[in-house]
Amino acid sequence: MFHRLRQDIHSIIERDPAARNAWEVLTCYPGLQAIVMYRWAHWCWAHKMKWLGRFISYLARIVTGIEIHPGATIGRRVFIDHGFGVVIGETAEVGDDCTIYQGVTLGGTSLHTGAKRHPTLARGVIVGAGAKVLGGFTVGEYAKVGSNAVLLKPLPPGATAVGNPAHIVQKEPASATSATANLFSAYGVTPNGDDPLSKALHGLISHAVKQEEQIERILASMKAAGLHCQGVPECDKLNSDQLNKLVE
Ligand SMILES: CC(C)(COP(=O)(O)OP(=O)(O)OC[C@H]1O[C@@H](n2cnc3c(N)ncnc32)[C@H](O)[C@@H]1OP(=O)(O)O)[C@@H](O)C(=O)NCCC(=O)NCCS
Repeated sequence: MFHRLRQDIHSIIERDPAARNAWEVLTCYPGLQAIVMYRWAHWCWAHKMKWLGRFISYLARIVTGIEIHPGATIGRRVFIDHGFGVVIGETAEVGDDCTIYQGVTLGGTSLHTGAKRHPTLARGVIVGAGAKVLGGFTVGEYAKVGSNAVLLKPLPPGATAVGNPAHIVQKEPASATSATANLFSAYGVTPNGDDPLSKALHGLISHAVKQEEQIERILASMKAAGLHCQGVPECDKLNSDQLNKLVE
């Protein structure tokens, strides 16, 4: 039990830039407290003390604002950050190293008792604040669900889904699920990810530079063939370095 607790605390310090030390995590992180209480509740549930399991889960909800059904399956080093308003349903499965932010629902869309009604999050999934993952499907390893997304369909490993209903915005290469890609990115933000607008502008600048070089080559060929044509004045030439700096 203490080994698991140590693992949980360590994983929170690793994943939350705001976490300063183990004491702070133990005393001020409702996500950790909810997971500890879930383990007691789950033990009762699995040992046929269902009411007690539900009652502990209810107490955990009062204390932490996080509701985890005692029948749910939660893996190791799962981090519920902030946590208020998180609801995890009875048949939900949360894999090792998943991160769940406040306001997330892992919910069901059917009323069939006994059936798998809630989602399965594979290892390392990040679910952004306020996202709803609804249904008995699987979210693949290291996938990301954007904040406030409403995910209604399975998500392949390494993919990122946003919006309502959620759609895939980027599917990382196969290597994304390999050990090297297991590094957690706080808040699900791609490390070193550039602003898409600035990426587009850099692309346009380098395209313009290539076009200018092409024009100069054409003018040189025309000159060599005896056809005289006025070139681009020096002052009108593109200063790509300066432009690239401006859109950085
Ligand atoms: C979804 C997420 C993981 C994507 O991060 P990323 O890989 O860095 O991707 P980008 O920021 O480059 O965004 C990719 C595209 O998705 C859009 N997008 C990102 N997050 C979005 C969201 N939550 N809802 C709708 N669209 C979103 C971007 O506008 C961009 O669209 P574009 O290509 O048309 O411009 C991240 O934005 C997110 O929501 N993380 C959760 C953070 C969170 O809950 N924090 C709580 C802290 S308390």
